[in-house]
Amino acid sequence: MSIAIIAPGRNTVELVEHIHNMDPGIEVSVYPNHKLDASIAIVWNQPEGLLTEFKNLELVSSLGAGVEHICREELAEQIKVSRIVDPDLSNSMVKYINLVVLHYQKNFQLYLDNNKINQWKPFEKPERELKIGILGAGEMGQEVAISLYNLEFEVLTYSNTKKEITGVQSYSSSDLTISDFVSGVNCLICLLPLTPKTENILNFGLFQSLPKSSILINVARGGHLVEEDLFKAIESGYISDACLDVFREEPLSASHPFWNHENILITPHIASITNQKNAAAIVLENFKRLKNNQSLLFEVDRQKGY
Ligand code: GLV
Repeated sequence: MSIAIIAPGRNTVELVEHIHNMDPGIEVSVYPNHKLDASIAIVWNQPEGLLTEFKNLELVSSLGAGVEHICREELAEQIKVSRIVDPDLSNSMVKYINLVVLHYQKNFQLYLDNNKINQWKPFEKPERELKIGILGAGEMGQEVAISLYNLEFEVLTYSNTKKEITGVQSYSSSDLTISDFVSGVNCLICLLPLTPKTENILNFGLFQSLPKSSILINVARGGHLVEEDLFKAIESGYISDACLDVFREEPLSASHPFWNHENILITPHIASITNQKNAAAIVLENFKRLKNNQSLLFEVDRQKGY
């Protein structure tokens, strides 16, 4: 069996080591020296079209939770697609979101700024009252919702199918429109998969439904956000602050206007990071299941795109 890892720009040395430790008999090749006879590809931002050059592919696994980079490829029908679902990955996201939400709730930027000028100024601004709306209630969305509820925030989720999450008000698209949903929250977190239906979903029309001075946190994909609409929403007061971890073009170019905007906080796609040991274990387990004709772990519905 041969696995090809195609993840340009990402360090996958650990992933290769873990696969070898777990199963020394497996041949692993890494882009750009990947072997085209591999039956499994583990991919992240692979060059478009490259997967179609493989002749024996049975499984394509994402190296992360998102799979839009695989679903847009023209793969033969029988090739299965899977993704990484892992408590460590969700945990990593939970910590990031908690940090960012608390940063805004406690006006932390003010104290960071005052640090720079040796200013002791307590209670300059009251803590913000946040009512949090999460778009997308998949594995990560649900974990994030629970953690914020445990921090005593009021939390609402919006997803295709209604979820039962203790303490959290969960809505589906058949209960109410997305505009009605966002009109009831003032901190909007995007954790949606990127699909043709969700692309550009964070647009000015939606932002106008938010109460004035809302917060936007996008940790899903850059393709969800219409970039110029964020500037418009900040200028017109619907959004007071935005925290972005994902971008249409990554790395974000040094000349991008997001960098110099005082209401936009940028992190370089680090909100949640795949644990390579867990990823190796999931892929190898799926290889076994494939051989035994069993259903796969975290298989993706290619039509739905998640
Ligand atoms: C990260 O963005 C992931 O999809 O895992």
